[in-house]
Amino acid sequence: MADRRPCIAGNWKMYKTGEEALELIGELKDLIAGVDDVDVVVAPPFTALSVVADRIKGSNIQLAAQNLYWESEGAYTGEISPTMLVSTGCSYVIVGHSERRQYFGETDSTVNRKIKAALVHNLVPIFCIGESLEEREAEKTFSVLDKQVSGGVESIAADDIGKIIIAYEPVWAIGTGKTASNEQAQEVHHFIRKRVSDLYGKDIANIVRILYGGSVKPNNIVGLMVQPDIDGALVGGASLTASSFAGIIKFKIS
Ligand code: PGA
Repeated sequence: MADRRPCIAGNWKMYKTGEEALELIGELKDLIAGVDDVDVVVAPPFTALSVVADRIKGSNIQLAAQNLYWESEGAYTGEISPTMLVSTGCSYVIVGHSERRQYFGETDSTVNRKIKAALVHNLVPIFCIGESLEEREAEKTFSVLDKQVSGGVESIAADDIGKIIIAYEPVWAIGTGKTASNEQAQEVHHFIRKRVSDLYGKDIANIVRILYGGSVKPNNIVGLMVQPDIDGALVGGASLTASSFAGIIKFKIS
């Protein structure tokens, strides 16, 4: 974790109506009142952003969207722009989640355009990368990640790289209950930081936060957070219940 500020982000995916979102965020707010040593982020679906934004005003919780389009406005039916997200109260946006890559045709190049658009609008991109089970078994993990990292940050200025949060989520660990071992996760996080260092230098690589994602729960967060290159978590399933998400946020390293 080094001296980078931890970040715990909850990806609600396509769960929670507005009413359900209000209930969840209300409970979470109470459970984590006073936590000030972690950046806490929630990413509700678009339709619940407004109500959640309202409810977290003045709290220690920040708002993310799960996706964006790169244009500011225009005839793009069904899309949501960075300007709209900012005006709704978002300060973060998840980009390139593996489900978007897998089901909605996102590529390294669309991910790159989205990261750039987020940065232009002062949204912190949570840039997701990760290998599939087949890729891991074929020993392609590092080459896949290398391509995803360099494709995602292509032609982004060094000054902006420090603003990006990278989330390493092995696809085989998402929603499956399987987590990478702490050592496996650390090995990959170290590799990713090294790649950032090769591309942008050590100082920038030391600033960039790299989150781990894939079946993170209150009972495995500590083992991950003690790893030197793991700076937080992107949490799916366990962020849908206030008590389990709060348990992750309030991890304590003894
Ligand atoms: P999970 O999802 O925690 O349910 O495995 C993580 C994610 O997809 O961001």
